[in-house]
Amino acid sequence: MKSHKKYNKISFPKKIQEEMDTRRAKWIGSKLKKAPLWCSVDLRDGNQALITPMDESKKQIFFNELVKIGFKEIEVGYPFASDSEYQFLQNLAKKKVIPEDVYIQVLVSCKSNQIEKTFESIKNIKKAIVHFYIPTSPQQRETVLKKTKKEIIESVISSSRQVIDLAKKNKKNKIRFQFSPESFTSTELDFALEVCLSAINIIKPTKKEKLIINLPATVERSSPVVFADQIAWMSEKFKENKVRDKIILCVHTHNDRGTAVAATELALLAGADRVEGTLFGNGERSGNVDIATMALNMLSDGVNPNLDFSNLNQIKRKYTEVTGMKIDERRPYSGDLVFTAFSGGHQDAMEKARVKREKSKKIESKYTDPYLHIDPVDLGLHIDKLVRINSQSGKGGLAYVLGKNGWADLPKLLIIDFSSKIQKMTQKTKSEIPSEIIMEEFKKIYFYNDSKYKVGTEIKMQEKKGNVETTTFIYINNKKHNISGVGSGSIESYINALSKLLKISININSYEERSLGASSDAQAVCYVRVVIEDMFVWGVGMDQNTSTSWKKAILKTIERFETLNKKI
Ligand code: KIV
Ligand code: ZN
Repeated sequence: MKSHKKYNKISFPKKIQEEMDTRRAKWIGSKLKKAPLWCSVDLRDGNQALITPMDESKKQIFFNELVKIGFKEIEVGYPFASDSEYQFLQNLAKKKVIPEDVYIQVLVSCKSNQIEKTFESIKNIKKAIVHFYIPTSPQQRETVLKKTKKEIIESVISSSRQVIDLAKKNKKNKIRFQFSPESFTSTELDFALEVCLSAINIIKPTKKEKLIINLPATVERSSPVVFADQIAWMSEKFKENKVRDKIILCVHTHNDRGTAVAATELALLAGADRVEGTLFGNGERSGNVDIATMALNMLSDGVNPNLDFSNLNQIKRKYTEVTGMKIDERRPYSGDLVFTAFSGGHQDAMEKARVKREKSKKIESKYTDPYLHIDPVDLGLHIDKLVRINSQSGKGGLAYVLGKNGWADLPKLLIIDFSSKIQKMTQKTKSEIPSEIIMEEFKKIYFYNDSKYKVGTEIKMQEKKGNVETTTFIYINNKKHNISGVGSGSIESYINALSKLLKISININSYEERSLGASSDAQAVCYVRVVIEDMFVWGVGMDQNTSTSWKKAILKTIERFETLNKKI
C-alpha cells in the first residue's frame, strides 16, 4: 500500500519533544496504585452515537445502572441541543432519583446563549458539573470555526466569566466546572496549554474547589505512548504554572486506532486523575474508551477499581436492551466467548488448574489459571460455560464439563472412551454440543437403566474351595432367570454366572468405586470396564447398596455390548 505517504506522523517542536522524552523516563516505569475518578459519558457521547438515541425511560434505566455500578459523576446530556435532554434533567430532579453523592454533568459549548440555557436546565440539580468546551485544533479553527487563536482564547475567557457569574446566582446548589479543549490531541501543545490556563485564570480554582481540565483524544491519532507524552507534558506545565494541585486532570479517549484502553492506562501513569468513558466502548465512530475493560484490567492488576462489575451479565443485558447495541463476542471481559475454551489443549490445562484450585480451596491463595487472567466468578459469570465442546475439544474439556455437572473425578479411561464418542458427534454435526446434551449422552451411554436387564437384589454368596460362589437372579425383558457362578471374588463370580447364562465370554478389566453424597442416603457409584468377547465396554451403576451398584454397572455393559454388536 503506497497510500501511507498520504499520512503525517504526529510530531512536536524539538524543545517539546525533548521535554516529553525526559518526562517519559519518569512515568513509564510507574505503577497504578489507585483507581482514577470515573465519569460515565454513556448518556451523552454514547447516546449521540446510537442509531436510535435512547428515549427518556431507557435513559433512566441506564442512569440507574450507572449509579448501581458506582459512578459518582455522570454526564447526562447536552441540554441546549435538544428538548428531550433538557426535559430529562428536569425529571431527574423532580423524581428525586439522583443519589446525594452523585454529580450530574452537562455539556455545553463556549457560546453565551448555550451556557445560559444550560444553567437554566440544572437549576434543580443539587450537584452539577458544567462542562464547557471549545475546539482548538488548527483544522477546527481554520475550517470549522473560522476563528484565530486569539478569538478562541477570548471565547474561553468570556465563557469562563459567564459560568462563574451564573453559578453565583444559583447558591442553593453545588456547581463545579469542567473545561475541555476539544480535539486536544490535534492541537499545538503550547496553544492547548494557553487555552487551559486562560480558563484556569478566570475560574481561579483552589485545592478544595478544583477545576476539571479534560484533555480529549477527540479522534485517536497516535500511539498510546504519544498520547501519554502529551498528558505528561501538560501535567508538568500546570505544575510549573503552580496550578497542578488546583485542577483535576482528566482524559477522554476515543478508540479510532483501537488503542483507547492502552492510551488511557498510560495517561494515568503519566499523571491523569480522572477518566471519562462509556460501558463496553460505545461512542462516536469506534467508540469511547471502554470503562468496563479499564476497571476490570485494574481489578486483575490487584487494584480496587471502585466500580462494581460483579454482575456483568445483568449490566450487559440492560445495556443491550436500552441502547440496541450488540457486544462483540470477543470484547475483553464482556464478550460472550471470552471465558470459553474450545481447544483441547487449553481445556486440558484449565481442567488441571481447576482441580488444583479446588484442592487448595482452604488455603488462601492467589487466583491462577493458564488461560484466564481473571476469575470469571468475580464477574458473576457461571463457570460451567467456560469450557465448551466442539470438534477442537478434547478429553480435558469433557472432564471439565462433566466435573462442573457433578461428575468430577471419573476414571481416566472412561473419559477417553466418552471423548471418542463425543468427537464423532462433533465431527458429524460440525457444531458445538451444549453441556446439557453432553450430560444426556453420558447418562444414556453408560448408566444402568432397567430397560432390558434388571438386577435381582437378593444374592447368596458362599465360600467354595477358596473361591466365592454367587447365587442370584436377573430379569431379562421381565423374565426371571436364576443364575450362579464361581470366581475368586464376588464380582468375578457374578460375571461368571452371567457368562454361563448368556453364553458369551465376560472378563472384568477395571473397577472403581466412589461415594456420591455424604449423608445416610449416599449412593455408591461403580464404574466397571469389562471385556465382552473382545470388546472393551464401560458401565456405571448407582445404588445405596454397593453390591447392587456394581451389578447394575455390569448389566449395563452387557446391554451396551449388544447394542454395539448390532451396529457392527
Ligand atoms: O470527544 C470529545 O472531544 C468530546 C468533547 C466534548 C469532550 O466528547
Ligand atoms: Zn467524545
